[in-house]
Amino acid sequence: MKILLTGGLGFIGSHTAVDLMERGHDVVIADNLSNSKIEVLDKIKQITGKEAKFYQIDICDLDALDKLFEENKDIFGVIHFAGYKAVGESVAKPLMYYENNLISTFNLLKVMQKYNCKNIVFSSSATVYSPKNVMPLTEDADLGASNPYGRTKLFNEHILRDFQFVNPDYDVVLLRYFNPIGAHESGLLGEDPNGIPNNLMPYICKVAVGELDHLNIFGNDYKTKDGTGVRDYIHVVDLARAHSLSIEKIIREGRIGFKVYNLGTGTGYSVLDIVNAFNRVNGDLVKYEIAARRPGDIDECYASPKLAEEELGFKAEKTLDEMCKSSYQYQKNNKK
Ligand code: WQD
Repeated sequence: MKILLTGGLGFIGSHTAVDLMERGHDVVIADNLSNSKIEVLDKIKQITGKEAKFYQIDICDLDALDKLFEENKDIFGVIHFAGYKAVGESVAKPLMYYENNLISTFNLLKVMQKYNCKNIVFSSSATVYSPKNVMPLTEDADLGASNPYGRTKLFNEHILRDFQFVNPDYDVVLLRYFNPIGAHESGLLGEDPNGIPNNLMPYICKVAVGELDHLNIFGNDYKTKDGTGVRDYIHVVDLARAHSLSIEKIIREGRIGFKVYNLGTGTGYSVLDIVNAFNRVNGDLVKYEIAARRPGDIDECYASPKLAEEELGFKAEKTLDEMCKSSYQYQKNNKK
């Protein structure tokens, strides 16, 4: 089937493009290159041997999005990755986040309706869950995002839920990512954020290749086994497969309605677990210092992965060692 990936040259989008194309699907990518690089398109071709059709557009531009659908009337479904995603930046620039992350979805749904495209998988996040929940998080846990970025994800979830409620012939799947890390085994695709990374693994990788001096561990007085924050890290290649399985569930079963799935491993690792695993697998490359807590961080966050396993047939397979090894391999290949 032909699948549109908005933001398809990004970290998760590009890995999903590869997985879909290797399963025989045709992929169309819409990306404005605001947080991705055009070189990724060729890397997708190097890996798969196939071309993804590419449109360099901003999906906040309704006319440009309409033209894409006009030229691709056989799009079966959309995987909606496009959106700004830096928590700290969203606090500093809330209007930019609300405008970009919500208008893109409004436009997408309007144009999908016009062209009778009735299937959408949305890139959501564990950040939509209230910090007051007990672990592990199930899909019916309390919601309550604590920053503008997380609120755009939550608002998009409500928009999609309300839309599907009055359009029951539409299939909508929300995928709530926990902490995606790792890289494709080829070393050609990976996480390549602009500027100084906010997230743990890309920061560790830049320390490991000597671009940054050391890691600052944000707090070691959390209520966890070693005092550092615990998260549910999932390999991006596993995460990509879950998107393909979502699309193929819709193709196979037809009307699935509105579904929500956590995408995590169910295992929490602390910051020190990650640093120690990285140094064990790649060589003793990462020095660290204990620093102050980062505002908004919580003690621990990890998934109950049961529902995705039961209904999608999805179970994360890759190990923490593979996540650390592949992340470092990609960073070495893409040293600035
Ligand atoms: C992980 C742990 C930090 C950096 C965020 C978003 C979430 C999702 C994933 C998009 C925490 C610690 C980090 C550093 C550190 N993104 N840390 N030093 O905050 O769990 O989730 O990214 O969907 O929505 O909220 O991920 O990688 O930033 O932090 O000690 O330099 O590493 O305190 O315990 P987080 P993270």
